[in-house]
Amino acid sequence: MAIERTFSILKPDATRRNLTGKINAKFEDAGLSIVAQRRIQMTTAQAESFYGVHRERGFFRDLVTFMTSGPVVVQVLEGENAVLANREIMGATNPANAAAGTIRKEFAESIEANSVHGSDSAENAAIEIAYFFAGCDIPG
Ligand code: CMP
Repeated sequence: MAIERTFSILKPDATRRNLTGKINAKFEDAGLSIVAQRRIQMTTAQAESFYGVHRERGFFRDLVTFMTSGPVVVQVLEGENAVLANREIMGATNPANAAAGTIRKEFAESIEANSVHGSDSAENAAIEIAYFFAGCDIPG
């Protein structure tokens, strides 16, 4: 199995409710290591660019408003098949469809305030990591 990295965001609904430790424990308990992490206030321009692929979707403006409504924690997670592993740990985008034990089932408030973002492919993980972290921010 391949050791991979994936990009993760703990969203404003998670920081607002002091859930960052509980969510990080889910990653670590499942074998993913947090190899870089930073708490930031995303700007509107950063959120618009990060979610640019969704620009034409009806929820885009609300998504940008939500992601800039409070601090987020941007992270790099590392482990075996990290992209897929993280998607399983997070659960379905809509918490109503998320499996028991997943982050979104336990913590998400709605499809928008769904506590976490995780890259959907290794290719996007590399792009998303590079958007928020310099190589020198990630110890080898
Ligand atoms: P995320 O993995 O961060 O990627 C895009 C986000 O858009 C998604 O999680 C959801 O939180 C958010 N979103 C809001 N409304 C919708 C919707 N109707 N369908 C899909 N994603 C939505």
